[in-house]
This record gives sequence, C-alpha cells and structure tokens, in this order.
Amino acid sequence: MHITVLVLSSLLWTACCQSTSFDSREATIDSVHHSLFSGLHSCRDVVSSFISRIEATNSQINAIITLNPAALSIADDLDDALSAGNATGALFCIPVLLKDNYDTFDMPTTGASLALAGSQPSVDGPAVAALRRAGAVILGKANLHELALEGLSVSSLGGQTINPYDSTRTPGGSSGGSGAAVAASFAVWATGTDTVNSLRSPASANSLFSIRPTRGLISRAGVIPISYTQDTIGPIARTVKDVAIALTVMASVGFDPTDNATALVPTSSIAVDYAASLTTGTLAGKRLGVLNGFYNRTVSNETTPVNEAMDALLSRLRAAGANLVPINETLYNATAIAAALDTQRFEYRELMDTYLSSPTLAGVHPTTLTSLYATNSTGSGGEFLVIPAEYEYVTTALRSSTSNTTYATVQAGIRNLTLALQATFSRNRLDAIVYPEQKNLVVKLGARSQSGRNGILAALTGFPVVTVPAGFSEATAEAPVGVPVGMEILGRPWGERELLGLAWQVERVARVRRAPVLASGFVEAKVYREVPMIMPNRRNVPAAYPVGTLG
Ligand SMILES: *[C@@H]1O[C@H](CO)[C@@H](O)[C@H](O)[C@H]1NC(C)=O
Ligand SMILES: *[C@@H]1O[C@H](CO)[C@@H](O)[C@H](O)[C@H]1NC(C)=O
Ligand SMILES: *[C@@H]1O[C@H](CO)[C@@H](O)[C@H](O)[C@H]1NC(C)=O
Ligand SMILES: *[C@@H]1O[C@H](CO)[C@@H](O)[C@H](O)[C@H]1NC(C)=O
Ligand SMILES: *[C@@H]1O[C@H](CO)[C@@H](O)[C@H](O)[C@H]1NC(C)=O
Ligand SMILES: *[C@@H]1O[C@H](CO)[C@@H](O)[C@H](O)[C@H]1NC(C)=O
Ligand SMILES: *[C@@H]1O[C@H](CO)[C@@H](O)[C@H](O)[C@H]1NC(C)=O
Ligand SMILES: *[C@@H]1O[C@H](CO)[C@@H](O)[C@H](O)[C@H]1NC(C)=O
Ligand SMILES: *[C@@H]1O[C@H](CO)[C@@H](O)[C@H](O)[C@H]1NC(C)=O
Repeated sequence: MHITVLVLSSLLWTACCQSTSFDSREATIDSVHHSLFSGLHSCRDVVSSFISRIEATNSQINAIITLNPAALSIADDLDDALSAGNATGALFCIPVLLKDNYDTFDMPTTGASLALAGSQPSVDGPAVAALRRAGAVILGKANLHELALEGLSVSSLGGQTINPYDSTRTPGGSSGGSGAAVAASFAVWATGTDTVNSLRSPASANSLFSIRPTRGLISRAGVIPISYTQDTIGPIARTVKDVAIALTVMASVGFDPTDNATALVPTSSIAVDYAASLTTGTLAGKRLGVLNGFYNRTVSNETTPVNEAMDALLSRLRAAGANLVPINETLYNATAIAAALDTQRFEYRELMDTYLSSPTLAGVHPTTLTSLYATNSTGSGGEFLVIPAEYEYVTTALRSSTSNTTYATVQAGIRNLTLALQATFSRNRLDAIVYPEQKNLVVKLGARSQSGRNGILAALTGFPVVTVPAGFSEATAEAPVGVPVGMEILGRPWGERELLGLAWQVERVARVRRAPVLASGFVEAKVYREVPMIMPNRRNVPAAYPVGTLG
C-alpha cells in the first residue's frame, strides 16, 4: 500500500514537475504531513526548504536571531523514524521558530538583549520540551522587542524587524520576529509570549492567527518573565487549525509545580485536543459583543482602514447569522485601564531576579535585573549595548516590587475589572467579545511606541483571546497587498475550545489572510551539508530609537 503510493507519486512527479523541492509557501501541519506520509518528500527536504527561504529573504525583514545548527540532523533522525514506521507526534517534522525568550538547552536564550547574548539554559523550558516530544524541529530563534518590553520589535541583539507587508512599518510586537517569520513562511508556526499585547499585535500586523490562552493553561516556566499576573505563552500560525494543534501540544505540559498558575486548570481543560472539534458548528445565533470603546472613530489615514476592515468583517459575520451586540460601557477604555492597573512595574524585578539567578542558567550573564541594566554602555559605533530601561514601568520596577502598598490596590482593581467583564458576558448572554487589536494601523519604523493597542483587557483579567485577520488597508507602493488589520475574539476563562471553534468559523466565512509579496515566489531548496549561519542585522535600527544615537 505504502509502496504503491510511493511509486505512483514519483511517477506523477516525473510527469508533472521540474523540481523535487517541498513548497514551503503557506505550508500547514497537514500539508507537511501529507507530503511526508505520501512519500513525496523527506523531513530533510521539508526542513531544507524552510532554511532556503530564510536564507533567500531574511535580509529583507531581519526576523531571525539564530538558526539551530542541529536542525538538519534532527530532520535526518526523523527520517529514520519515518522509514522505521515510527513517525509519531502531532508535530512530527514540523519546523517551528521560537521567540528568543524561550529557554533552549541547545541555543542561547537572549531576550534579544546583548546583555544576555551568552546566556545558555542547561534545560529546555517545559513547553519547548513538549514541542520536541511531539516531533517538532526547532528551526531557530526569532527576534523580539528587547526583553519583550514594547511592541516595536527592535532590540540591541537583533536590530529592527521589518513588517513583510510594508517595508516602512514595524511588525507589531513584542513577538514581531515570530509574526514576520510566520507571515513570510520561514516556519509552519512560531511561539510568542504575551504580557500586554505580544501574541496579538504581531498576529494583527501580519495577517495571522494566534491564541493568548487563559492564564494557567500553559506553564510559563523556562520563559524570560515580566509579570506573574499578565504573562502567558502560546502559538502564532497561518491557520486556526495549526494554532489549535500547537496549543494542544503546549498545554500538554499540564500541572507544573514551578508555575503555580497551572494548578488553576479545571478538569474539563486537561488533555483536550483543541483541533478535534474544528469540523462542525456555525456562527448562526452566536452572540458577539462589540466593544465600541476599543475603536478610534477619528477619520485619519491610520484609523479609518482599521474601522473599515472591522465594519466589513462584522457585516459578513452578521450575514452568516451572528448577532452583534453593542457594548458601550465607559469602563472599557484601554488607555485608562492600562494606566490604572498594569502590574509590570511591581512584578518585573522579583521574577527577573529569580530567572537570572536560576542554577539552570549557564554562560556569562547578569544575575539580577539591576546588574543587567548596569551593563548598559555604548559601543565604539555609538550603539547601545543594552537598550536602556527607558519605560516608566521598567525604571519604577528597578526600585519597586510587590511589597509596594499600591500593588494591593491594583490587584483589587483587577478583581473588580474581572467581575465586571464576567457581568458583561452574563448580562448580554455573550459567546465572545470582539474589537480591533489595534485602533490604528501598526506603527511606522522609528515610532517611539506601538500606540492604540487593546490587549490590556485580556492581559489583566487572564481571559483567553484568539486573534484573527480582519482585513487590509488599501494597497500602496510600500504595501502592495495593504497593511494587515486584526481582530481579537475574547472568551470566558477556559473557553478555548468554543473560542477556537468561533475563530475557525470566522476564518471560513471571511477568508482574509493573504501572504506578503516577498513570500510569493517559489524558492528552490538547496542541498545543505550544514545549517547556514544567519546573522541578525543589529545595525538595522531606526535612528530615532531609543534616544537618537543608535548606530
Ligand atoms: C519510536 O519513537 C519513539 C519516540 O521517538 C521512541 O521512543 C521509540 O524508541 C521508537 N521506536 C522504534 C521501534 O524505533
Ligand atoms: C505562586 O508563584 C509565585 C511566583 O513564583 C509566588 O510569588 C507566589 O507566592 C506563589 N503563590 C503561592 C500561593 O504559593
Ligand atoms: C485617534 O486617532 C487620531 C488620528 O490617528 C489620533 O490623533 C488620536 O490620538 C487617536 N486617539 C486615541 C485616543 O488614540
Ligand atoms: C493620507 O493618504 C493620502 C492618500 O494616500 C495622502 O495623499 C495623504 O498625504 C495622507 N495624509 C497624511 C496626513 O499622511
Ligand atoms: C453604542 O455605540 C454605538 C457606536 O458608538 C452606537 O451606534 C449605539 O447607538 C450605542 N448603543 C447604545 C445602546 O447606546
Ligand atoms: C479614556 O481614558 C483616557 C485616560 O484616562 C482619557 O484621556 C480619555 O478621555 C478616555 N476616553 C474616553 C472615550 O472616555
Ligand atoms: C544607558 O546609556 C545611555 C547612553 O549613555 C543613557 O542615556 C541611559 O540613561 C543609560 N541608561 C541607564 C539605565 O543607565
Ligand atoms: C510604588 O508604586 C508607585 C506606583 O507605581 C510608584 O509611584 C512608587 O514610586 C512606588 N514606590 C516605591 C517605594 O517603589
Ligand atoms: C472595587 O469595587 C468595589 C465595589 O464596587 C469598590 O468599593 C472598590 O473601591 C473597588 N476597588 C477598586 C480598587 O477599584
């Protein structure tokens, strides 16, 4: 049976095609598996095709910090397993990129900060170990906004990542290297982390899907931390199904004593296969709350395209049977909520000191947050060796902590907000709440902050969000398919299954995602002896960032 398929497919190949290369463009977990299991391609072919694409186009977007030197030998091991009839694991031979704040035993974990360039974990974080157990090929590490502290995706180690849809814009962030890389088909999917917006802003800005799961669903151990209250980790992918498969594997870590939030997971959310139910269901009768306070209705070049994309998408969902319920409560003001209740300034230093002094962290690295910023200095070219602690919440964190009396008031405010959000769901009998991830288009290169984002609501309450592509701005010379716009779909805690089901319906009804032009060409896979070195372009940093003297 297997041999027949093999012979048949090689005959087809001889008849139809010039090339034996696997086509990495917009590849999904299913398309890679189809190729492998029907004998069309080996795992080495698949991995080589992604590496070739990275080699050919990374210089245009600067998304990669490092490639895994072992990626090809891992592929060879998986080919051995395949020919032994032992190809197991939901992510068998799936090339995945990790945001470079996930600990890996075989590559440094830098947070894209030069201060951590030599920081070498001796063990994988539990989520990374789960990916490897499921057969994933960790292709390498992606750039992020330095230490995941903003949404521009510029760093002292990785430079500036460029949006693949518009060479004048940022890719969102902080997981902007992951987002840009997935949009450009550098991997099937990538990991991100989210303290305020960071799994959602890059999905929005790169026409991708992501999930920020309920706090506690995936252990955050072995990931460079910022906030106990707000940190979460999760996948960014080109389809809802791939998000669901990736989430299933990452959440398989289950209860982890080193992240006590994992004890909150209810029995009904343990060992769930989130992809299994993405085959049925309908939008008809679904009640979607539309958060009007999370829009900026000012007419401008940056806001109007977002409003138009959202309005058009919501009309299509209404036509598919969804009930749109306007939510006008003044409580839902993202600027006011963030100003009052963000916890990073209290929680960052304690968590970072614990991370940096962990016995599982080897290599040369600072062991406290204070000493990390004390290594701040300028290089011979005038460039910063560490991006300064320029944000108020970081400079406050350098002296403040969870013992600050304001912290208890903030936590009480978060409990109030969480109850108010539950009440909004109950009062309006909502299945989900929707709003644009960002009130304006993703900002231009050189801007000082990624303004207008709405991620704070889920970040503080811990409610899950799936981000989906909503549309594009009009095409221009710089943005030949337009600038992507994304929508957040926020659900109740532990409602991941229902939320992914809704997102899958939205994906089918709307069919918004488009690939960027720079990833539209076929790239012939090279035959590699070893994984090529890909160096980030550190000097590719807007002159305005962060204080004007970066080289
Ligand atoms: C099959 O793969 C599993 C997981 O990689 C491994 O533990 C096992 O030894 C393999 N079995 C054979 C027969 O190769
Ligand atoms: C949970 O873990 C955090 C971070 O390690 C710690 O600060 C907190 O005290 C723990 N909570 C409990 C109740 O043990
Ligand atoms: C709304 O958008 C306008 C135009 O881009 C901008 O000037 C203004 O600051 C925005 N307002 C808010 C509250 O973000
Ligand atoms: C807005 O876009 C139009 C059309 O592309 C352009 O002519 C105009 O200069 C832009 N306005 C601003 C303020 O950038
Ligand atoms: C809610 O706000 C929208 C748009 O801002 C408006 O059209 C609608 O009439 C408002 N609904 C209520 C009940 O106030
Ligand atoms: C939202 O909150 C900000 C900051 O508190 C305030 O300046 C702004 O006026 C508020 N927006 C609305 C629409 O009330
Ligand atoms: C880091 O260095 C820059 C340039 O010398 C300086 O402007 C900034 O204040 C320094 N930051 C810290 C936290 O020392
Ligand atoms: C406590 O937190 C407040 C609010 O962020 C901050 O202004 C203050 O400086 C902090 N106090 C100390 C002693 O760190
Ligand atoms: C929380 O809500 C209660 C009841 O509405 C109120 O009394 C209290 O001041 C609120 N606390 C904070 C910190 O917002």
